[in-house]
Order: sequence, then C-alpha cells, then structure tokens
Amino acid sequence: MEPSDRFIIVIFGGSGDLTKRKLMPALYNLFQKNQLPDKFAIIGIGRTAFTDDSFREVMAENIRTYSPPDITDNITMSTFFKNVYYQIVDSEVANDYLRLKQRIEFIDEQLQSGGNYVYYLSTSPHLFQVIADNLGQQQMNIESNDSGWKRLVVEKPFGYDLKTAVALNNGLQRVFKENQIYRIDHYLGKETVQNILAFRFANGIFEPLWNRNYIHHVEITAAEKIGVEDRGLYYDGTGAVRDMVQNHLLQILATITMEPPSQFNAPAVRNEKIKIFESIRPITPQEVSKYVVRGQYAESVVRGRTVSGYRCEKNIKPSSRIETFVAIKMFIDNWRWGGVPFYIRTGKRLPKRITEVVIHFKKTPHRLFQRARSAGVEENQLIIRVQPNEGILLQFGMKRPGAGFDIENVNMDFHYKDLSDTPIPDAYERLLLDCLHGDATLYARADAVEACWSFITPILHAWKKDRSIKLFTYPAGSWGPKQACDLFDDPVDNWHYPCGELMEEGEYGEL
Ligand code: BG6
Repeated sequence: MEPSDRFIIVIFGGSGDLTKRKLMPALYNLFQKNQLPDKFAIIGIGRTAFTDDSFREVMAENIRTYSPPDITDNITMSTFFKNVYYQIVDSEVANDYLRLKQRIEFIDEQLQSGGNYVYYLSTSPHLFQVIADNLGQQQMNIESNDSGWKRLVVEKPFGYDLKTAVALNNGLQRVFKENQIYRIDHYLGKETVQNILAFRFANGIFEPLWNRNYIHHVEITAAEKIGVEDRGLYYDGTGAVRDMVQNHLLQILATITMEPPSQFNAPAVRNEKIKIFESIRPITPQEVSKYVVRGQYAESVVRGRTVSGYRCEKNIKPSSRIETFVAIKMFIDNWRWGGVPFYIRTGKRLPKRITEVVIHFKKTPHRLFQRARSAGVEENQLIIRVQPNEGILLQFGMKRPGAGFDIENVNMDFHYKDLSDTPIPDAYERLLLDCLHGDATLYARADAVEACWSFITPILHAWKKDRSIKLFTYPAGSWGPKQACDLFDDPVDNWHYPCGELMEEGEYGEL
C-alpha cells in the first residue's frame, strides 16, 4: 500500500497501556516497513509530566519489549523518534486545548503536513465526549479542502448500554461528521477475520453451501487463558458481554453471515453488516435463562498451583456478580440463516487462548456407511482458527485403507504461516493504516454499534433486575459452566473443545 498523506496523530491517553503495548509499536512497525509518509508526527497527550525526550525514552523501551528484536536497531529507532512528541494536557481543562492547538500548528508548519490530523481517543470512556467537545471548541474538528482532513478514532468501550451508546453517537456527531469518526474494534483488524471475507467471497465453492440448507449450526468461541489481571477496576464494571460480545464476537458473527457486498468498500460492507445486526432475533428478559448462560471463575488447582477465583482478584468486589464467561444461543431471522442456531461463547481463565469459528455442516441424508466400526463418522466441520495457529481446517470422512468400508474423519489443514514468511501484522497496524488512508471498512459505523447494543442491552437489564437468573461458577482452567452445554437442543451436539481442561481440582457451583 502507498504511504498515506503526511499527517499528525494526536494520542489522548499517550502514557496509557494501549499506547505502550499496541499503538506505538504498531506505528513503529509501519514506519519500519516504509508504510508511513516521508513526514509525520506522533504527539502523545496526557497529564503525566513527560518531556518529549523522557516520553521518547519510555516509548522506545516499550517498542523494544513488544516488537521483534531484529527490527529495533538504533538507527531506525532514533529516526522514528524524531517524529515523536509529548504534550501535557488535562483532557478536562478547556484552556489546555488552546496550547495543544498551537503546538500542533507549530509542528504542522515545520512538517508541512497540510492540516491532516488523527485524534486517537485511548482514554477512559468518560472522557470521549469531553475531548471531542473541547476539540470542537477550538475548531480543531474543521475540515476543508485547504485545511486538511480531521479524523477521530474512538476506542472501546463505545457506550455502556444502548442508551449511553446512542448518547455518545449523538454527542460525537454534534462535533464530527460520521465520516470523520472511526470506532475501533481490533478484532476487525485481525488478518484472519479479514480472511473470512476472502475465504467466502474469493472462492466459488463455499458460498453455495453457506446457508440454512447445508449448515446445521455455527459456533464462535473466544477463549482466554488469562484472568482479569490488573484490569479489575475496568472489568468489574463491565463483564464478558460488554467486553467481548457486544463488539468483537458480534462483528465476527456478521463477517461470517453477511451477504456478499456489491463492492469492497466501507459503505457496501457496512450496509451488509447492519442487515445482519438488525436480523438478530431479540432475546426477551423472560428468555434470558433459556438462551444465555453466564459464569464466573472460581479458585482451582492447575498443574499443582492454586489459581485465584475472580472475587479474590485485585480491585474486584468480594461479592461481585460480574460474568467472566458467557455463552449465548442466537438466531438470525433472515432468508439465508432462518432456523440455524449460532452458539457464541467467551470467557476468561479457560484452558487455552483460542478464537475460532466452527461451521457444522448437516449430516448426509442417508448414512450409507453407518456400521458398527464406522460409527465415528461425523458431519463435516470447517474450523476457522482466528488465533493462534491461524488457519482453516476442513474435516471430512475418508475410507480407511483395507477391507470393508470403514470411514474415518481426516483433516485438510491450512496454516496461514505457510502463505508467507512475513509475520502476521498486529491488528492495530492495519487499522491505523486504514484510518490514515481514510478507509473505514474495518471500523464500526454508528448504526451497527447501536444495533449490537439493542441485542445486548435487554440481557444485561434482565441480569440486573431478575435475581432468579443464575450466575454459575466454573473452576479456573475449565471450559466454563457445564450448563453452557444445555444450550444445545440435541444432546449429541456440544461445544468444540480444542483441548482438554487444565483444572485438576475445583468445583462448579452457583452464586
Ligand atoms: C479486549 C478486551 O477488547 O480484547 C480484553 O477488553 C480481551 O478483555 C482482549 O482480553 C482480547 O483480545 P485478543 O486480541 O487478545 O484476542
């Protein structure tokens, strides 16, 4: 891809964790691959008292930690850091924005970056609106042919429920036009999520099967091995549904199920996705127990080591009823997917970090080889491994060599790493680059965010209001509450387990 226009990116939350772990390494990697223009600037913004130099030092340390050693040579690093600056700003103090504006304009004059600015909001969500309003107050949002483009990237969580998401959309749109707003969902920047689109729409053989006539059900799993770590303050007010389902998992669902867009551009792709979000069958408060299972991890013993339960983690209320696991059975009421159940689940402290989609095809209409020794014949499965070990696996039955007709399931396995020696770029690299090019295809549009919250919010409200809806516990290192299996109508069906449980001792229960 050609380098973008010259630009200045202003990162609010410049000394925060995301900047350190993701944004700065992503910008450095793009620079190192010559994907940035000849002149650009990165301005970290925060309340911490850094100078340009001390900020550069801290960021250099982070890049060395989070990037492969062979790309962090001193010359490239020092050339990159000539473009990095820091400005102390209290996001809530209006006057600070005037100083910021002057600083940006000064740097712009030196770089001749044509007034092209990205404002990246990587702060606590309560500041999103405050920052946008202050930028507006200083007219830092204004675009015109000769004043360059202005783009606002908004991190998650985008709202807390439907009402707050609508308010945030309306509030931001009072200052920035919708085409200036980039709502980031890093799952959309993952190569393998994009590859779902290529897999579906660059090949003629799968699409005819991609519907209710051939697909029995679909599973989407995003499992994490880690617990809440040091994010207790955020997570204990959020939970798995808001943290992972409302955004990442529903976006994967839409990528799997959307109709082919007429063109590959932002409006066409987003128009197809919104149709999916609007076709998701609502789950009423009375149906929540039937279609949704929530859980919270409890203490267990894994490889001889005691792993803490959620309620004993740092900054978690000892009586917390926040879910760290959720499984949902859902339907998409449209022509293509009518009647096909979609099972989605996510959780922390599960046995393995894995994100995958499993497409379960229907059984053959007649089981020709159904004999005692070939009882293992299963329906075909297509497994899309989003991470790790990125790839696609197709499972089908083959005759075992020798006498008779014994059928065995075999795998045709494609590993993404076989395609090229280039390591898979981090999602943030792709998304930042797209934003610099003005391509919003992989960003969420206002209506999509609201449609996702419309599906999620009644579930959250039911949990809050109806204490009879159970919150199960599962031992850390297990695959979540056993009740998640009850979502399947047919006991023959069950979740796909990519590995066994790690937990050696632990109990399932209820809170
Ligand atoms: C984030 C969530 O959006 O995604 C985290 O806030 C979660 O809780 C993370 O750990 C998972 O992302 P990835 O890319 O590691 O699958």
